[in-house]
Amino acid sequence: MKILVVGSGGREHALAWKLRQSPRVKQVFVAPGNAGTASEAANVSISASDIPRLVQFARHERIDLIVVGPEAPLAAGIVDAFQAEGLRIFGPTRAAADLEASKVFCKHLLRKANVPTAEFWTFLGAEDALKFVSGREDMPVVVKADGLAAGKGVIVCDNREEAIAAIKRIAVERQFGAAGDRLVIEERLHGEEASVLAITDGRTIVTLSPAQDHKPAYDGDQGPNTGGMGAYSPAPLVDDATLHWIEEHILVPTVHAMNREGRPFLGVLYAGLMMTHQGPKVLEFNVRFGDPECQPLLMRLRTDLAEVLEAATYNRLESLEPLEWDPRAAVCVVMASRGYPDEYQTGFPIRGLEQAEQLPDVKVFHAGTTLKDGQVVTAGGRVLGVTALGDTIPQAKLHAYTAVRMIRWEGAWCRKDISDKALRHLVSQPPLPQTS
Ligand code: AMP
Ligand code: GLY
Repeated sequence: MKILVVGSGGREHALAWKLRQSPRVKQVFVAPGNAGTASEAANVSISASDIPRLVQFARHERIDLIVVGPEAPLAAGIVDAFQAEGLRIFGPTRAAADLEASKVFCKHLLRKANVPTAEFWTFLGAEDALKFVSGREDMPVVVKADGLAAGKGVIVCDNREEAIAAIKRIAVERQFGAAGDRLVIEERLHGEEASVLAITDGRTIVTLSPAQDHKPAYDGDQGPNTGGMGAYSPAPLVDDATLHWIEEHILVPTVHAMNREGRPFLGVLYAGLMMTHQGPKVLEFNVRFGDPECQPLLMRLRTDLAEVLEAATYNRLESLEPLEWDPRAAVCVVMASRGYPDEYQTGFPIRGLEQAEQLPDVKVFHAGTTLKDGQVVTAGGRVLGVTALGDTIPQAKLHAYTAVRMIRWEGAWCRKDISDKALRHLVSQPPLPQTS
């Protein structure tokens, strides 16, 4: 089998690494990839947004399976374009990708399907939204741009004043462009967040082991939100009973509701959840693997991923054996460029990669890297996802940070507390609601 992975981050490196291990896979291409995928697979210099050229390449190379990493090409209809050419692609169609690409669509679907989520109100423009917050009691809300805004179109507000400023940023100043055509205002939820991902063909749902991301930039969850500064799996916050509850009350009704909407969902259904006192509630859905959650998840997955993704494209997930997981924990620490998530410089040579990779049970996934004169240099905000296995979460953490300490470039930094949140949950669990 020949596979094409679309994208260039840590998630795509992990996908290429894992898919290449399949005995059924002869060759893996990554478009456009990074310095890490170049050593794992063959990079193809076509942008993830250039759908016509990707189609042309896949036809010419007779690619058997295309796997899409990021949300933007999915929302732009990459799956529809490949399917129209009779090519086999794993991911949701444009209509199904609205689950991530339109928060208004997602929230209405959740309401219709009776899936637990924050109370919400939707608005077509600034005027109505401003009237709404001014006319209500002053309370913490979250203001969200409807469309894709690289994770930045979500503004968590403590009070009315902040909500007004957020509405103006999104709908008057239009900081997120057309993503701000519509707005969602949500009740603000409290609790800890977890990521539950599932692979589905629209009929069968194969839930992955739970994971937890670390979105804020600095230790102790301080600072601005990022794409994710680290992740680990399994997440003891979501025990087996909770995972089962999430499947039954969140994943299954969502997949059914998408079928009823005439937008059958095939791909990765990623539920971003808040574990509230009233039980798990959906913050958002993503329609792809999470980055960096994908890295520790694939480090632990023992099942042949190519087989699972291919089976999904044939609507044959039902016939697969249950997934097999390494019982050990995996921790991924993101190393970032100085200045990220704001402005940062690139082009700094990275040293110590080979030594770090020689450590047992460590894999350094590249995110923002490129090759310059044969040398690996930084090329993005999130540069590496240093991932390690360990018998326990603290041991996996220790292994990951041992590797991190061997890697250097000018301005490199990382959070020092990735996975510490897990420790609190090895003891107590909040009860689950009894009703559906
Ligand atoms: P989203 O892209 O919708 O997941 O939002 C990004 C981040 O904003 C989430 O990971 C949460 O930390 C936060 N967030 C989103 N919605 C809410 C909410 N209703 N209450 C509290 N925090 C939220
Ligand atoms: N790690 C969060 C995301 O992939 O959106």
